[in-house]
Amino acid sequence: EKGNYDHFMLKEINEQPGVIRNIISKYFNNYEINLNPSLIKSINNSSRIYILAAGTSMHAGLVGKRLLEQLTNKPVEVHIASEFAYYRPILDTNPFFILISQSGETADLRACLTYLRSNKYKTLTITNVITSTLAREADYALEIYAGPEIAVASTKAYIAQISVLAILAYELSAKDFDLKLELSKVAQAIENFLADTENLQALVSKYFKKEHAFYIGRGIDYATALEAALKLKEISYIHTEGFAAGELKHGTIALIEDGTPVIALISDETINLNTRSNLHEVKSRGAIPIIVTLESLKQKGDDIILDDVHPLLTPLVMVVPTQLISYYAALNLGFDIDKPRNLAKSVTVE
Ligand code: F6R
Repeated sequence: EKGNYDHFMLKEINEQPGVIRNIISKYFNNYEINLNPSLIKSINNSSRIYILAAGTSMHAGLVGKRLLEQLTNKPVEVHIASEFAYYRPILDTNPFFILISQSGETADLRACLTYLRSNKYKTLTITNVITSTLAREADYALEIYAGPEIAVASTKAYIAQISVLAILAYELSAKDFDLKLELSKVAQAIENFLADTENLQALVSKYFKKEHAFYIGRGIDYATALEAALKLKEISYIHTEGFAAGELKHGTIALIEDGTPVIALISDETINLNTRSNLHEVKSRGAIPIIVTLESLKQKGDDIILDDVHPLLTPLVMVVPTQLISYYAALNLGFDIDKPRNLAKSVTVE
């Protein structure tokens, strides 16, 4: 089943361009989008959207917040499911809830859904398993069509969740760009990157043996930094954190030692120079600086360069090198990549 790949994780990373193309074919009918009109109406009628999820799916939710807010102007809050289940924020008068879950079985989300249903709030589950409990019990369900995800560390489901959130946000918007075209450019950009990863592998072999590593980013790159850090720690057991780049100097810079890899994610012109200057500060304290950026923002000596894509879709390309960094770090350290210690694919206890 792994085909030519040594691990499901590597196979699933490489499936990502195909997953995006599959999502396009499922949701676009020429230029019409296949989404239940009653779902669209229900979200349009709401005053605020609440996204609930756990782990990687919560990180997809952070990207979803940006897509929905930018394209619809509606406020969106993202909450960790296990927190929301028992400590609820003050809810807006007319809330709409989006639950994101690859498996559709996560117990923390089931606890949230029990509360939401008993209060008759409107709910949508975005999931890879359309027959799952969370899909069946919500008012609406959208499938992400990633195909079975076997590796415990989620990769293609994350990309698929964000793609479906983009389509949903777009359908709710004025549609003043061509999302179908922009998503297919993303698929191509990921494919181009995956075609040659020798440079990335060499970097990982050289630097990712340390006890600690840090990802830094601003804005939406901060969300990617959180996901990148989760992925690296869960399979390589290197202690990794994702930080807002501007926060380093407020404390965490104390953790930098000689040889600590610090990976800066830079996908936005507005913060390009600020994040670079934060990286410079850690470099002068001994860190190994690594830059992941886009073609239009690159400077001489940058390490990993991706093709430019639509500004709202950059998280889909920026995350891919971080998935591979995790994969090769775990591979070099000799760990069981598809079944990391202490973890299960679907977390059915609270
Ligand atoms: C990390 C990972 C987990 C899951 C989380 C939620 O790689 O896979 O963090 O994202 O347990 O699972 P689902 O999406 O099935 O609700």
